[in-house]
Amino acid sequence: MLIRIPEGWEIPERDATPESVYMNRREIVRAAGLAAVSSIAGYGATTAPYYPAKVNAKYKLDVPVTEEWAATGYNNYYEFHPTDKQAVKDRVGKFVTEPWSIKVSGLVNKPGTWDMDKILATFTLEERLYRFRCVERWAMAVPWTGFPLGDLVKAVETKGEAKFIRFETANLPAQMPGMKEAPVYPWPYYEGLRMDEAMHPLAMLVTGLYGKKLPKQNGAPIRVIVPWKYGYKSPKSIVKIEFLAKEPGTFWNKLNSSEYGFYSNVNPKKPHPRWSQAIEQVIPNMERRKTLMYNGYEEWVAGLYNGKED
Ligand code: MTE
Repeated sequence: MLIRIPEGWEIPERDATPESVYMNRREIVRAAGLAAVSSIAGYGATTAPYYPAKVNAKYKLDVPVTEEWAATGYNNYYEFHPTDKQAVKDRVGKFVTEPWSIKVSGLVNKPGTWDMDKILATFTLEERLYRFRCVERWAMAVPWTGFPLGDLVKAVETKGEAKFIRFETANLPAQMPGMKEAPVYPWPYYEGLRMDEAMHPLAMLVTGLYGKKLPKQNGAPIRVIVPWKYGYKSPKSIVKIEFLAKEPGTFWNKLNSSEYGFYSNVNPKKPHPRWSQAIEQVIPNMERRKTLMYNGYEEWVAGLYNGKED
């Protein structure tokens, strides 16, 4: 499929990492020597020299970048707090995100375990500005750092029968107080994508935000970001990736199948039973603006669905 890159979008890159900062960091790293930097106390391999990563200017915004304090202080991460978005950041202290690994299984030629150091050493990180839209209507626009999900899919060599990808996230009730507070939820959190969605260049595995390591409340150390879908399709702190022939179930669909379909593409014309989707509200001030089809990525992704989407 031919993917058309929209042209003429403005670039409010003032909050994204400027090239000069990236270059400075690179020069410092080169001068000090990679091994020396990695071994400095407090600078694990998952910290330096990966952030800030080079900005990929192809991914531009037509809306202002959200301030960092807002995007890292207003979160949906039910494992930590099932109701209060502003309390999530205050409850992540016990969450241990290093070391970390992801188990890859199912219909692949190269199943196995990928630890974070291997992931960071294998794939090239870059920073991209994306819109982000929650089904509850709040929206933001942020610089994520990561790499195309398709890069990992290619590296593990999926078999022809693999048509879907399933993600499972951390299941650590001792570190995640919300899990015990909300026992009715079908923990651990899990999600899925169709294989062509996963291979789309916009779909990312994200390890950083605002030019730094991903904060725990935003899904450290590694999460999915699919910018044309509602935010719940972007699972945080993933520990398992499985390749399947059949469409997998999802956490929210299991809880309430009439409200949360598998595709869940942002669509202003399709109201959720509890929230009209015509308007979105931008954090932190909640000013209203129109919701865009596929969250503004229609030209890029409409071809995946041919008008048929859930
Ligand atoms: N992933 C896990 N493991 N647990 C969650 O509760 N919430 C989802 C998604 N990923 C969630 C998750 C929802 S509903 C949204 S809107 C986004 O994360 C919020 O991401 P953010 O807090 O980084 O903005």
